Amino acid sequence: MTPTTSIESTPNPLARTAADWLVVGLWEGEPPSGPAADLDAAAGGLVARLVASGDLTGKFLEAVPVFAPAGVAAARVLFVGLGKRDAATRLRLHEAGAVAARAVTGKAVGTLAAAAPGAAGGLSAADTLHALGVGATQGCLGPGLRKATPSRIAPGRLVFVLPADGGFDPAPVVTRVQAEARGMWLARTLVNTPPAELYPETFAAAAVEHAAAAGFTAEVWDEHRLEAERMGALLAVARGSDRPARLAVLRYAGNPGGPTLALVGKGVTFDSGGLSLKTSEQMVDMKCDMAGAAAVLGGFRAVAELKLPVNLFGVLALVENMPSGKAMRLGDVLTARNGKTIEVLNTDAEGRLILADALTYAAEQRPAGLVDFATLTGACMVALGPHVSGLMTNHDGWGDQVLAAAARAGERAWKLPMDAHYDDMIRSKVADMRNTGGSRYGGAITAAKLLQQFVGDVPWAHLDIAGPAWAEADSAAQDSGGTGCMVRTVVELARGFGVAGG
Ligand code: BES
Ligand code: MN
Ligand code: ZN
Repeated sequence: MTPTTSIESTPNPLARTAADWLVVGLWEGEPPSGPAADLDAAAGGLVARLVASGDLTGKFLEAVPVFAPAGVAAARVLFVGLGKRDAATRLRLHEAGAVAARAVTGKAVGTLAAAAPGAAGGLSAADTLHALGVGATQGCLGPGLRKATPSRIAPGRLVFVLPADGGFDPAPVVTRVQAEARGMWLARTLVNTPPAELYPETFAAAAVEHAAAAGFTAEVWDEHRLEAERMGALLAVARGSDRPARLAVLRYAGNPGGPTLALVGKGVTFDSGGLSLKTSEQMVDMKCDMAGAAAVLGGFRAVAELKLPVNLFGVLALVENMPSGKAMRLGDVLTARNGKTIEVLNTDAEGRLILADALTYAAEQRPAGLVDFATLTGACMVALGPHVSGLMTNHDGWGDQVLAAAARAGERAWKLPMDAHYDDMIRSKVADMRNTGGSRYGGAITAAKLLQQFVGDVPWAHLDIAGPAWAEADSAAQDSGGTGCMVRTVVELARGFGVAGG
């Protein structure tokens, strides 16, 4: 179901690369260079003619198909606008690759070839190929998992055409594209899977399967083990559902004796709100509420495939939030693993409850850095819009490292304040804290403030991905549905971890 596309590079010259489609990027506001110039020479001035007629401008995300071009082995060429060379970033190259792939994968394609665009902005030629390549892989997958006639069909092969002068070793780039592609495809497919099929037990089974395939371990705790481990907040959320809770503990040891990076993911496989029931409109996309856990699993998969020299410890907190006669009630008081008590004033603020226990367990491992990923609050989307994640931290140095990794990955994140006065907003009259902020204001931060109660003094950063995890509609560079957000950030974090002091 997820693509089985073979990802390769070829030393063949552009004009002699056989393909169903050949993607060639064009920079805006400068004469054709690199692959565009090679193509122009081979195809008798085709590029120059299209530029002169105004059909080809190189404007960012412009897509211009040319069928049966003369002088070229490829059956069709797709020109994609890369925008101004100086403005090039990993995000923009990723989007250009995705736009190109989306333009041609509505039909079956045997071989999709893409020319390496060369160095641009602050990016090396290897960087731009990596970004364009990962983007292209993501343009090959859509949300139509159960369509009789598929709406998007991944090509058999994705082949990168290298510049004549070489300049870099393509093998590590291809390996990285492959690993990140698979991690993101996995995360997106998990998010897109209907919640009747993806529930705590089946998610945990997927973790075990992918651990075995990629070279890390996954240990699954059932409800009895969770009880024995005193995970009372997580179990309370799960109690309303017929589907029992699971917790998956992931371990990857790539740097024995070195520091450990701990990753925790919110895995609410469906969030109905519980007794504080959501409206249909609010509930309709709530199969996406496990996107944090999907990012952690996809990130583990990519890091392990790349055999990065880092130690990862992961916790996937897997529950379904449902209303029933067994569901937790408003006014209930839960005791979390660390002994702290939480008064439940809204059963729809369930993510922080399951993360309380998962973070406690992760912090007990004394990792050098801890990050959680969670579709935690609508309030974060009110604050930052749908495309930017909120970052909240108890340790500015660590928070800045996580922000820098996200920036390198081309993923948008922005820091929100964690001043002490927000703590007052989660005070409870009967318990150590309550699970809502009690007002409409600062909802992303009051949620993070509750999480902070469970990480002790471990450097911790919380990423609220409620916006970026899910695309409500198609856009030029993205199919609707799960986005695979934060998989690339996990890879960047893991690459930099320990190197820059951890
Ligand atoms: N899973 C939701 C947050 C969410 C909203 C994710 C929209 C993605 C898109 C979370 O469990 C939730 O319901 N949060 C409540 C908290 C409130 C009850 C304090 C919210 O944001 O409304
Ligand atoms: Mn909720
Ligand atoms: Zn939720």
